[in-house]
Order: sequence, then structure tokens, then C-alpha cells
Amino acid sequence: MTSLTQQLTAIAAEAFQAQGLDPAFGQVIISGRPDLAQFQCNGALAAAKAAKQNPRAIAEKVAEALRGNPVFRDISLAGPGFINLSVTDAFLAGAMNRIAGDPRLGQPVKAKPEMVVLDYGGPNIAKPMHVGHLRAAIIGDALRRIFKFVGDETVGDVHMGDWGLQMGMLISELEIRRPDLPYFDAGFAGPYPAESPVTLAELEEMYPKASGDCKADPARLERARLATAELQEGRPGYRAVWQHFFDISVEAMKRDYGNLGVHFDLWKGEACVNDLIPPMVEDMKKRGIAIEDKGALIIPVKEESDKMDIPPLILIKSDGAAMYGTTDLATIVDRVNCQNPDRSIYVVDHRQGLHFVQVFRAAIKAGINGKGTLFHLGYGTMNGTDGKPFKTRAGGVMRLDDLIQMISGEALKKLTEHGLGGDYSEAERADIARKVGVAALKFADLSNNPIANYVFDLDRFSRFEGKTGPYLLYAAVRVKSLLRKAAAQGDKPGSILAPEEGERDLMLMLGQMPNAINDAYGELAPNRIADFAFNLAQVFSTYYNAFHILSEKDAAIRASRLALAELVLKELELCLDLLGIATPERM
Ligand code: ARG
Repeated sequence: MTSLTQQLTAIAAEAFQAQGLDPAFGQVIISGRPDLAQFQCNGALAAAKAAKQNPRAIAEKVAEALRGNPVFRDISLAGPGFINLSVTDAFLAGAMNRIAGDPRLGQPVKAKPEMVVLDYGGPNIAKPMHVGHLRAAIIGDALRRIFKFVGDETVGDVHMGDWGLQMGMLISELEIRRPDLPYFDAGFAGPYPAESPVTLAELEEMYPKASGDCKADPARLERARLATAELQEGRPGYRAVWQHFFDISVEAMKRDYGNLGVHFDLWKGEACVNDLIPPMVEDMKKRGIAIEDKGALIIPVKEESDKMDIPPLILIKSDGAAMYGTTDLATIVDRVNCQNPDRSIYVVDHRQGLHFVQVFRAAIKAGINGKGTLFHLGYGTMNGTDGKPFKTRAGGVMRLDDLIQMISGEALKKLTEHGLGGDYSEAERADIARKVGVAALKFADLSNNPIANYVFDLDRFSRFEGKTGPYLLYAAVRVKSLLRKAAAQGDKPGSILAPEEGERDLMLMLGQMPNAINDAYGELAPNRIADFAFNLAQVFSTYYNAFHILSEKDAAIRASRLALAELVLKELELCLDLLGIATPERM
């Protein structure tokens, strides 16, 4: 099963083919003039160009062939060779019943599933998660859900920043504060105390201090460098401290991502590919991929056609340290070993664009990416009203925790303003407010194309009117309540009947969901699904105002309208779920 336009495209393609023309010209789309027709096919124009014939004559012949097909109620020509198409009411009703009876709501399963690794985390150890990581999580998790639903195998990797100089800074910071700890004895070889020497709060306080000191004092920086090198070489005491830092940070990250409803399959990081680095570097050196340059080891990645200078990737710095690009390359090796992906998609801030150009080119040059393609989906920033990346009022980086608190608070305020949930328990109200808040945040983000910047607007995001998460949740919840009331009066959704005047728009919309999902999938643009869900909710709202459902006298018509409402709910909930948004039972 497929969308309405896909079904009609198959029919039109055959008609083109029967005229000896390329079936690809048979593309049918929703009509741009709904007053004239439901669908249109513009293929005759391009076909005419290719066949050096008159477009109107081709359209004439194709239309004639289509007239033999009983799905069409009306076929007419317009302009230089557009074919206007409208389908019979019986066809529409049949299509609705098939979609309603299909657990996948008309979305076919992809014929050749691919293995897709999605990298959309990147939180750093010891640094609280901030809004910068928010978009990666929201967009990446939505893409994972979309890919999975379409039929690919997906692996979402959090890919933590748990390696490199920042860890050396932290370890040396602890060593300065607590030289007495057994971990710092030169000969430490265990046992490893289960208790962490620091709390998360201490860790979060230590990092800015260490980083500031390193900036101000070259000797302090040198100490951090040394600690980094010793950590990477495997000094047991340092590894043990690192493990503590890692464990307490991961606990906090899991909580934060959990609150957002963002899922990862893999909790790997930069550190876990450390052992893959030496053999990889050795191999790249041997094959001349990596070359010496002023004591460092680099991979030149410049290409003839470059419009700007693309500097080489630094594989090993002159002091022997592996770099961010090095761990990303080793991670590619690791993923080929573990998942052997067909595609790897990195959902990372667009400001890291150059980094990924270097990494991908180096990987391809070295041939370490197996059969897989590598793609950086560089998302835009979430900005404040000043047009700069979003900050707290005090000008600091906003913590994810605080942001979620803030938006849930706003959601609660708006719920109260709308007189919603007044008689529910405190706990249920809080739960609803959190769901609405997260929906507001996610929907606001995902209703933009990922590569665009957008402005954070607490008030607008959490409104119940307009293209917002709360509006969509409310639309879905309203249908849920309708279905509950129907059940209470003994009514069940039944067979969908041929549309009445005014019902066709809703049916046409319901038949188009696979297009939105395919577009979102093909363009890596969850906003296609957000747009569809919003349009569907609006069309249904018009329908709901025009048609009585529960009070309709005719039982068959009542059951048909209920079935349409139920289908609306199923499609809305699927769309919201693909965007990572959970729908509450009531509001
Ligand atoms: N930890 C990095 C940062 O905060 C982001 C990592 C993105 N993923 C990757 N494979 N490089 O900047």
C-alpha cells in the first residue's frame, strides 16, 4: 500500500508507457487548484520535450487511456498539457478503509533495508548538557525513528566526548586538590574503590576551574597535557579516575536524555576507540596516507575543485597526542567492525562543518569507511531574540535541565489559562505539563528544516494556537476524548462510507501521509512530517466543526465518521511519535 498520489502515479505511469513514453513522466501530485481537480499530472510537458511532440497531443492521448480506468470520476486537460484528475468517491472510501485497516497506515516497508548509524549526541563528560546538544538529540532521535519506521536498521550512538585534553585537565585538577588519593600513587594498580572520589556537582565545578587555569597558566596546561598523554597510554590510576568521571556523568546524561524522551542504542564515546588508534595510524603511515609534517602526522585532504582552503587533518600532534579528528576516524573503523553501516549520518552543529569535511575525506582516502557513505547533517543554531546562540538571562550557557523546567512551567501556565486539567491530581497535571513542555520544545525545533537557525520563543512555542506542539497534542487528545465518549454511548468506528460533500478534503489529506514520511526520510527533514501533522489537524478541525459525530442519527454514518476520526488520531499519533513526541491520554 502507498499514498493516494503514489497509487495514481502507478496508473498514470502505465498510461504514459502505453504511448511509448517513459513511465517516469506519470508523476501525479495533489492539485494546485483544488477548485478544479483533486490531482494533477504535468508529465506530458516534459514528455513532449523529450519526444519532440506537441504536449497537448500527448496529454490528450494519456487522458484518453486513463478514461478507461474506473478510479477516475473526472479527467480534463488544462493549459499547454496539464492533466487534471479527480477520483470517484468509491475509490476514496476504499482507500480510507484500506489505510484504516493497515497497522502501518499505508506506509509500505522499504524493500531493501539499509544499516544506518546515526550519531546525534556528543555530550561531554563533566560538562552539564546544554541547549547546544539539544538540537542534535531532537533531530537525530526523530531521524532514527523515521528511518526505523520506513524500514531501515538503525543504530543511534551517543558518541560522548570522553577523551582528549578535557579529561587530562580534570584528572590533573583532582590530583592537585587531592594528591592523597591512592589513584595518584605512581605504582597504583588497584584495587578500585567503588565509591567515586567526586560527586557530579564537584565534577561540574572542577571543569571550568581547570579549563580557566590552563588558559591562564602554561605550566598548568602542560600538566594537563601530560595527564592526557598518560591517560591515553593507560596509566592505571588515571584510568580508574577516568572511569569514575565517566560513570557519574553517564548517569546524569541518561537522566537528561530520558527526560527528553531521546533514545540511544549505543553509549559509546571517543575513549572506547582509543586502542584502535595506534594500528590505524600505523597503517595510514605505512600506506603513505598520513605524512610527517613538522613533527606532526597529517592527512592532506585538499582537492582541486575546492573554493576555500581545506587544511590537512591533524592525525597526531607533534607532542604525540591524538586529536578530535583521530578519534572520529577510529570511530569509523569501529563502526565498520561492529555495524558495517551502509550510511552514517552525523547530526552535529553546522559550525563543525570543516571538521567533518576533513574527517570524511581522510576516511575515504584511507578507504576505512567500508561500503558506507558518510554524511554530516549540520544543523543551525537555536538563537535568542538577539539572533545569537541562545543564552541564559545572565549570559551563560543554558542547561538542558533548566530549559525543560522553564518550558514545563510555561506549559502549566498555559494549560491553566485554557482551563485544562483543573480537576486532575497535582501529579497528573505536572506530568501533562512536562509532556506538553517537551512537545512544545521538540515541535518548535522540528517544524524547521534542520539546517535553518531558529529563534527560541517560550511564549509562542507553548501556545495552544498556531503551528505548535501543544496545538497538535490538544488536537490528538480531543479525538481521544471523542472516541471515549463514543465508546461510553456504545458506538464503535465502522466501515468508512463514500464521502459526503465536505468530507473529501479530509480523506485526501489522510491518504497523503506516506508522502510526508518519504520526504522527511529522503531529505533528512522531519519538518515534512511536522507540516503534514499540522495540516491534518487543521483539516480535521474544520471537519469537526462542520460534522456532528456523536449526535448523528444514522448509525452507519456515525460509525463511518468515528472511523475517520480514529484514523486522524492514528495518523497524528504516528507523526508525533516519529517526531519523538508522546501524546498524553487527556489534557
Ligand atoms: N563532543 C562534541 C562536541 O561537543 C560533539 C561530537 C559530535 N560527534 C562526532 N562524531 N564528532 O563538540
